[in-house]
Amino acid sequence: MVKAVRNRSMWKASEVSDLKKRLLPMLGHTSGKRSAMTCALKCDNACAKGVCNTSDNNYFRDIVSAEFSRRNMLGVSGAGMVALMFGGGAAAASGSAAGLAPAAKKGFGSGNASKLKFAGIDGVANTVDDVVVPKGYNWEPVIRWGDPLFHDSAEFDPENQTPESQAGQFGYNCDYLDIIEIQGSNGKRGVLFSNHEYTNENIMFPPDMDISQVRKTAMAAHGLSVVEVERKGKGQPWKYVRGAKLNRRFLMDTEYELTGPAAGSDLLKTKADASGRVVLGTQNNCAGGTTPWGTILSGEENFNQYFKVSAPTDEQRRYGLTNTNPSRGWHVEEPRFDTDTPDGKNEDNRFGWIVEVDPFDPTSTPRKHTALGRFKHEGANVTIAKSGHAVSYSGDDERFDYLYKFVSKDTYREGDKKHNMSLLTEGDLYVASFSGNSPANQIDGSGVLPSDGAFDGVGHWIQLTRNNESLVPDMEVDQVLVYTRLAADKMGATKMDRPEDVEINPVNGKIYVACTNNINRTAAQADEPNPRANNRHGHIVEMTETGDQTSTQFAWKLLLVAGDPEMDESVYFNGYPADQVQPLSCPDNLAFDSAGNLWISTDGQPGTIQRNDALYRVTMEGPEMGKVEQFMAVPIDAETCGPVIHDEDGLVFVAVQHPGEDGSWDKQRSLFPDYLPAGTPSGKGGLPRPAVIQMFKGKNGFVGR
Ligand code: FEO
Ligand code: CA
Ligand code: CA
Repeated sequence: MVKAVRNRSMWKASEVSDLKKRLLPMLGHTSGKRSAMTCALKCDNACAKGVCNTSDNNYFRDIVSAEFSRRNMLGVSGAGMVALMFGGGAAAASGSAAGLAPAAKKGFGSGNASKLKFAGIDGVANTVDDVVVPKGYNWEPVIRWGDPLFHDSAEFDPENQTPESQAGQFGYNCDYLDIIEIQGSNGKRGVLFSNHEYTNENIMFPPDMDISQVRKTAMAAHGLSVVEVERKGKGQPWKYVRGAKLNRRFLMDTEYELTGPAAGSDLLKTKADASGRVVLGTQNNCAGGTTPWGTILSGEENFNQYFKVSAPTDEQRRYGLTNTNPSRGWHVEEPRFDTDTPDGKNEDNRFGWIVEVDPFDPTSTPRKHTALGRFKHEGANVTIAKSGHAVSYSGDDERFDYLYKFVSKDTYREGDKKHNMSLLTEGDLYVASFSGNSPANQIDGSGVLPSDGAFDGVGHWIQLTRNNESLVPDMEVDQVLVYTRLAADKMGATKMDRPEDVEINPVNGKIYVACTNNINRTAAQADEPNPRANNRHGHIVEMTETGDQTSTQFAWKLLLVAGDPEMDESVYFNGYPADQVQPLSCPDNLAFDSAGNLWISTDGQPGTIQRNDALYRVTMEGPEMGKVEQFMAVPIDAETCGPVIHDEDGLVFVAVQHPGEDGSWDKQRSLFPDYLPAGTPSGKGGLPRPAVIQMFKGKNGFVGR
């Protein structure tokens, strides 16, 4: 392990500033996994509140008989259901090679064929304020919070940020990330997309800044960014281009078009938008995906925390809308965020969607696709099934919530972008039901493998809509799509341990689901796909669709059960010797390299294994299958987001989110990425700046800009 030597700050405790007190009435709570600041600002203390899913939709071990009675409604034959219940279909399902992406036919080659060679680093203590990369690698930022995007943008001035200056600059807390080469540029020009999930007001703004200015500036630091990047040629690092023609910020007053069967529904009409078809802004965008037709999808996640609600309805409660005093105070600035006012009625229903953006057309109207359902979307990823249909997978990141997929009605046409951009507007929405194949008494919540040596089984996709019509009893299609969680409750979906990123391996066509953790699951609630009580470390599910990805049946197994193997005997990495794997906890975002190896970024390791969050590669084929190597670690308090692996180009990218977030304006904990001398006042740049960074082979020791 080699660390660049730089100035760093390592205060042990943060000081609660006046601003923090004003913004964070819930401060002091912590779930035990993450910092109090993350809990308060990222997901509105979700862990401190009751579980949203109070449905009597049972856990698997309780539902065998109920499944049989439902089989006709779900379209599963008697024989198929027997296979689902007792695992008889698993071998056939997992052995099917049909429906693989074209690349799958190339196979893996020998062993770990990744083009990125590196010696894995050790875990990095959770007090280190550094980016740590392997020996022989270097890193540098591509773009940072506050970097000006346009010629007329104001320069970053942390002491005097305003809504207007922020609107022309890269936003805060970048999460989803992609860098796409522009065709015909010979690898010298590209476009970078990132979203901005939330803000850390406590370290962003001076405590004496006017509170209204704080709120509005933080609002402008949310949203999305598109930025052109350039470089000398392939294999070289990128730099962002100020004033480039594709550069764009998506702000809270940007118009989004609602598409699909719920567009125009009464549930989506507001005082300001009687059509129910035009929404201003996007909130709390977390992960995302890049479509085969070159657009970007972005998931609206913990939108509930921005809305004031005094007397939540059952539907609002199911979406976590219980906070009567949103800490960011947007409802004070814009009444539409106060659902108790006429302006706010139904406004909350207009968030929680998958957003689609065309980064190559700066005049295009971004869209929110109702056909994909409304929940706390981590992200969405699309593959084209062998049948030609676009299939999108999406996790609902909440304890005991569900995994969804959408299958387009129409099929993909190579090169016809206009047509392909219609694919997510009409089709079928499904939610997953998992069944284990081991006896229930062997799934005791300890995480110890059952006697058949695997947490595995089969499952089926429960259909909620067909060609934009409801298949859920007593719910119209707009209700199914606006209140998707309630529809899935009714239909008996499997409660998962916070499904985050869902990615399709481009080499083997299988689906990988990161279940990040769930400390609320009890031993009695453990089931084979979620086998641990008090699941602090999370796990990854591998799913093999029967036939192509439009299938309603699948086989599954847990690829890994995360944690520190020295402290937890349930840690399992695809059969690789547990004493030889790196500790890894709280998998969040997933990515693949060109050889189909899985890359995992984490969110929460400082609180669970006392290490900074990190990026790992898992070998997926050959004698070292299951081997975990750590590629990098992010600085203190930060989360590793949006990994992009361009191994053929020798580049790895991550979005470094919320570095130093437990600090205060007067006592910052991180100086990433500029690392100005310790003691530099925050107003003069002595503060952390969330940033997209790139890592590449080179001399260690990057020292700021
Ligand atoms: Fe924003 Fe599910 O993490
Ligand atoms: Ca089993
Ligand atoms: Ca995430």
